[in-house]
Amino acid sequence: MENLPDNVPLYELDMVKDLISAILGRASAQMMMGSFRTAKIFFGITALNQLSGFISNRLEKEERRILLITDDFTEKFASQVIDVLNSIDAESKVWSGVKPEGPLHTIEEAAEVCREFKPTVLVAIGGGSVMDSAKAIMIKYENPEANLYRILGLGGLGLRKKVKFLIAIPTTSGTGSEVTAAAMLTDMGRDPPKKLTLNHGELVPDIAILHTDFVKDMPPFLTMATGLDALAHATGAYVSTWGGPITDALNIAAIKEILKYLPRSYKYGAKDLEAREKMQMATVIAGMGFGNSKVGIDHGLGHSLGKVFNMHHGFCVGLFLPYTVAYTAKISDRWKDLCPVFGVESNRIERKALLTALLQAIKDFIHSIDGAVFVKEVKDPIISKENYMDNIDLLVNYAETDAVDLLVPRWTHKETYRKIFEYAWDGRDIDF
Ligand SMILES: [Fe+2]
Repeated sequence: MENLPDNVPLYELDMVKDLISAILGRASAQMMMGSFRTAKIFFGITALNQLSGFISNRLEKEERRILLITDDFTEKFASQVIDVLNSIDAESKVWSGVKPEGPLHTIEEAAEVCREFKPTVLVAIGGGSVMDSAKAIMIKYENPEANLYRILGLGGLGLRKKVKFLIAIPTTSGTGSEVTAAAMLTDMGRDPPKKLTLNHGELVPDIAILHTDFVKDMPPFLTMATGLDALAHATGAYVSTWGGPITDALNIAAIKEILKYLPRSYKYGAKDLEAREKMQMATVIAGMGFGNSKVGIDHGLGHSLGKVFNMHHGFCVGLFLPYTVAYTAKISDRWKDLCPVFGVESNRIERKALLTALLQAIKDFIHSIDGAVFVKEVKDPIISKENYMDNIDLLVNYAETDAVDLLVPRWTHKETYRKIFEYAWDGRDIDF
């Protein structure tokens, strides 16, 4: 590996892709996982207050130095957490420098803050960008020499020497980062900037705190987009061939909850706290489901579209979800299990008609909460056909070199990616 460029992730290298496919094929997987990974989850009305007991039972008073990591928007929630920390005489400090999608230079900046403050606990309060940045900050604080382009589940990272506990308090309901080993950052050295994926068991937060008060005021677009992210996690993971009995149960449960509570959460916002609470839980159920299997190809396609046209992650992966189900249906019948979940009557219907009905049900659901299922219908930003086609090489390149591509259940070539992007322009049914 010594001759490989330091600033290219391993998953982009043909050699690594060849190795993975040679060892595993792309259709066997659970043996890779070896253990079930999740954070301990605190939820309900006592969720936030449980933090004081957790820390005071594990750290002596003089060890309780807590760095709260937020962005500009979620900084406002820090005071509630500090109140809890003050009750156990913990020393706390807020760093609110997280930027959307975690540009690498911000990680270095925060690691420097850590070296001065020497926290024993990191508390990430925010959406995916904040929680994912906190994971990377922990790596760079523990090991300043670590190369973030090389964090891909191999070997040990040697974490939890300085930071004893990583705690995630989500302020959106979708990413699932609060219970997963994954972190998405942004490599600003690419033009346009490109997603950089980190994935390692040591990055799973120790505690996820589901404090509904922090998500209740999410605006409708964010509710819809993050909710679609969770739906894509559970659905994409279910139809992939990486699942096992535990993740199957989780993914199905998550889909059911999302179909029931996301429309309410989108429509009524803070007025429907039950829906907010249920979506928080559905998100972590989906997080455990996909975090212990694999997301679908919608995530590679969505990462690419999102980066090239500066669009929300969840909105983009939701857009590609029907294509993922249709594309994966060529190698597996797992999608049939989803028919009753999506309310599709499956008795005495031939395969093609049944799949069409399921895809329509998924599209109808996405449309019911004002999401999009093809690019031409996206209203913000409006993308012209010319602009889209002019960028199609880049879209293909970014999808093909995304971390998701490494483990997609159906081998996907450059030309196949191109075709999916072409079909996604005006919503054509996948027929290849
Ligand atoms: Fe996602």
